[in-house]
Amino acid sequence: MDRKLDVRKIYESVKEKITFKPEAALVLGSGLGNFAEKVEIAEILDYKDIPGFPVSTVPGHKGRFIFGYVEDVPMVIMQGRVHFYEGYSMDEVTLPIRLMKLMGAKLLFLTNASGGVNTGYQAGDFMLMSDHISSFIPSPLIGPNDEEAGPRFPDMSDVYRKEIRDIIRRVAKEENIPIQEGVYVQFTGPAYETPAEIRMARTLGADAVGMSTVCEAIAANHMGMSVCGISCITNMASGILPQPLSHKEVQETADRVAPLFERLVKKSLAA
Ligand code: 6GU
Repeated sequence: MDRKLDVRKIYESVKEKITFKPEAALVLGSGLGNFAEKVEIAEILDYKDIPGFPVSTVPGHKGRFIFGYVEDVPMVIMQGRVHFYEGYSMDEVTLPIRLMKLMGAKLLFLTNASGGVNTGYQAGDFMLMSDHISSFIPSPLIGPNDEEAGPRFPDMSDVYRKEIRDIIRRVAKEENIPIQEGVYVQFTGPAYETPAEIRMARTLGADAVGMSTVCEAIAANHMGMSVCGISCITNMASGILPQPLSHKEVQETADRVAPLFERLVKKSLAA
């Protein structure tokens, strides 16, 4: 697949339907789906109405772009993302991010649900992403490089911009919302990890584990976007607590802390 041609072609078809010019982009992870209620909506575009766009196969995952204002910031919001474990290629998984860059977004705010690897964490905690480990997934930059998009060998030393993290930390403090800060590792899923894999992740320096986000951050960083990410620790990862992991627990915790998560994201965008 020619990534460059695909993204540009899909962008042309979006431009025929949407006039909105976003400055920032937000990806809503599990449990943040209702964030749309906080948005002064201008336009909506269903992924299924974009020819060539990857559509999620996960039950309960909505799939649409919402264009509108959050605290007066013009934004494009992804309500629903696709995952590598669904069988999409890394090019397909990161295409929406590349599209939002072409729409005009300079800032990318990523959110997700993750498992706690750091034993000092507990379910319901929020974690500001300070860095990531991508070594267990294929790079979304593999293949011919689109020089107009970004460099062949991009620097990765400040993906989750320190200046944005400083702002989010300050906002969390002002709002009395406790926030951890740590390293997120993306595994492919869809199975949750084994206890041995989680011990490995901890040894490698990971604090949280999930099945998304890192590939998106790499594509965005490649294109020069400023990235930040907040993870909701919905459960402790495998082998830490005596009970098995379940998608139900992930959803229940995400739903429980959603109002707090929404407030943190909204106030951070305003700051
Ligand atoms: Cl424990 N692992 C992964 N890979 N993703 C998750 C998770 C764990 N908990 C929520 N999402």
